[in-house]
Amino acid sequence: MTVSQADVAAIVQQTLTQYRPHRGFTFRSPAVTVTGGYCINQLGDVLKELGASNVLLVADKQVYQLGLTASCEAAIKLSGLSLTLFTDITGEPDSDCLKSGNDILKACGADFVLGVGGGSALDAAKAIAVIGDYQGKLTDYQVGGIASRRVGLGAIPTTAGTGSEVTDITVIKDLALGIKVPVKGPALVPDMALIDPTLMLGVPAEITAATGIDALTHAIEAYISRFSNPLSKAYAYHAIEAISKALPVAAGYGKDIDKRYDMAVAAYKAGLAFSNAGLGLTHAISHQVGARYHLAHGVANAILLPYVMAFNALSCEAELAEVANALGVGRDSMTPRERCRAAVLAVRQLVMDLGLPTSLADVDIAKRDIPLLAEQAMKDICLQGNPRDVRPAQISGLLQQVISGTLPEGYC
Ligand SMILES: NC(=O)c1ccc[n+]([C@@H]2O[C@H](COP(=O)([O-])OP(=O)(O)OC[C@H]3O[C@@H](n4cnc5c(N)ncnc54)[C@H](O)[C@@H]3O)[C@@H](O)[C@H]2O)c1
Ligand SMILES: [Fe+2]
Repeated sequence: MTVSQADVAAIVQQTLTQYRPHRGFTFRSPAVTVTGGYCINQLGDVLKELGASNVLLVADKQVYQLGLTASCEAAIKLSGLSLTLFTDITGEPDSDCLKSGNDILKACGADFVLGVGGGSALDAAKAIAVIGDYQGKLTDYQVGGIASRRVGLGAIPTTAGTGSEVTDITVIKDLALGIKVPVKGPALVPDMALIDPTLMLGVPAEITAATGIDALTHAIEAYISRFSNPLSKAYAYHAIEAISKALPVAAGYGKDIDKRYDMAVAAYKAGLAFSNAGLGLTHAISHQVGARYHLAHGVANAILLPYVMAFNALSCEAELAEVANALGVGRDSMTPRERCRAAVLAVRQLVMDLGLPTSLADVDIAKRDIPLLAEQAMKDICLQGNPRDVRPAQISGLLQQVISGTLPEGYC
């Protein structure tokens, strides 16, 4: 049998993409992180330190209308930098909105793109900063490959959830396929993350709840990921601890700036953890269900997370027992299995306490769609980190559980 050059190239490609260093790890994070109440005042200085002279500010329309970008605009202008605004982000970003944003980037000649808003606006900014440099559709880069960009990139989150301000991912809706696609690469890690909890004081309770559970999902999936490393685990553990304490208060009394700050930093840590360790089955299914049935990302995760934790327990009982400790429900007298169960039930209780749905019963999912959703989830890059091997039939079974709202036996 002869082996062609193309065969060799395919084998090399497979080796490079599928095998990671044994016990080694690479850890990426923004070059500069600024945090604290009113730290927005430092924005101009940090942008100058990063070499910016002409800034394109990409913001969520609602965040702009609420006046939350005003302090950023003032800080930029006071520092003598040029500023152009693009505020046409009205939902989770898709290919069309990215094209308009990139046209404006080209026209204004900015050397720095600054995203301000929730995960949607930050993801839009990240994609706009690179989309002009890559051939084909951005969604062709699901497995990575966004390795360079020509402009600086910064992110100012106004929700405490996605961690997009630190991650190497941007999630884009592929309008033709009707699915959300995580696009990946080191150039998507912003150069700067600025986290000011005063920008989050007015986030409505239901958005606080949903985005906070998204952060918890990042931390838990990163903690049990098969690509976790000591640094990602430390960040994930602390994020789980902080979220379990701060989220109920932040959702119940949004003006508590200390709890807003704790949530913002926890979301940042959870973002660092998953960006460097991967996610899992919750996100793989949530991307499909979210795009198809228009469920907010955090809500889809809140529904799915306890079921997926129970499913994964088979292959990560020890790690889930540690998650129980971080959640404050692990007791010395408990066996690892009992701790696992306690972790699953604690997450479900938190979801209920926050008033978020615990099943897909209210979403009109046709039975015939389940195998398709399962097939699409199998292709989602997030599945790679999942600690348990998964087959499409198992995802279909899981979806049936989530629709009926019944956790598997032993967790009821
Ligand atoms: N890049 C990543 O690493 C990553 C990780 C997880 C999720 N995501 C993606 O992020 C998106 C979701 O982001 P999100 O959960 O932050 O929601 P979002 O950005 O869509 O914002 C939700 C709502 O909150 C409003 N809002 C934002 N900040 C506010 C404030 N301070 N006050 C009042 N209202 C405010 C927005 O206008 C919007 O209506 C999804 O597309 C998801 O797939 C990305
Ligand atoms: Fe997420």
